[in-house]
Amino acid sequence: MSRLDSVIRRLEAQRACLNRAAELVRGIDGAVIELGLGNGRTYDHLRELFSERDIYVCERQVAAHPDCIPPADRLLLGDMFETLPAARFLIGHVALAHFDAGTGDAAANLNLAAGLRPLIVALLCDGGVLATQQAMDGPDLVLMPLPEGVAEGRYHLYRRV
Ligand SMILES: C[S@@+](CC[C@H](N)C(=O)[O-])C[C@H]1O[C@@H](n2cnc3c(N)ncnc32)[C@H](O)[C@@H]1O
Repeated sequence: MSRLDSVIRRLEAQRACLNRAAELVRGIDGAVIELGLGNGRTYDHLRELFSERDIYVCERQVAAHPDCIPPADRLLLGDMFETLPAARFLIGHVALAHFDAGTGDAAANLNLAAGLRPLIVALLCDGGVLATQQAMDGPDLVLMPLPEGVAEGRYHLYRRV
């Protein structure tokens, strides 16, 4: 598979999983949180999917497309290891968390995901969903089936129990 094919598949899988996550949280009250704004691609998609919900965004340093910069009162600016525990108002009130804070370094991504996992799980309400490229298995999260066409392990959808 060429690198171009690989990028296309990754982005298609990401979009399909966000669309599925939106279905999974239909009927569950709560905010949405984007963990890693980057250039704002997935934040923009979440805005389309969740026009009625509050969408919070975590980012260390904003460098997104100007159209994709969240309002100041929805931006948790700084390192997530500090901003997530400080956002006490969100604890137990998030219906969907999307974790997309990785880089090209797979080992570093797994470490980051493992370190942030407890902080992210604490945000989720009962039945809330976590969408993440990195696995975040554990007793408080049940793995949900992926949309058709998304290879096992390429993305992960979990429901908080
Ligand atoms: C892969 S990019 C996000 C891509 C984005 N979801 C998109 O679709 O455009 C990862 C982002 O996570 C941010 N990030 C990584 N670790 C972080 C941390 N510990 N705290 C806050 N932001 C972090 C980086 O600054 C980077 O902008």
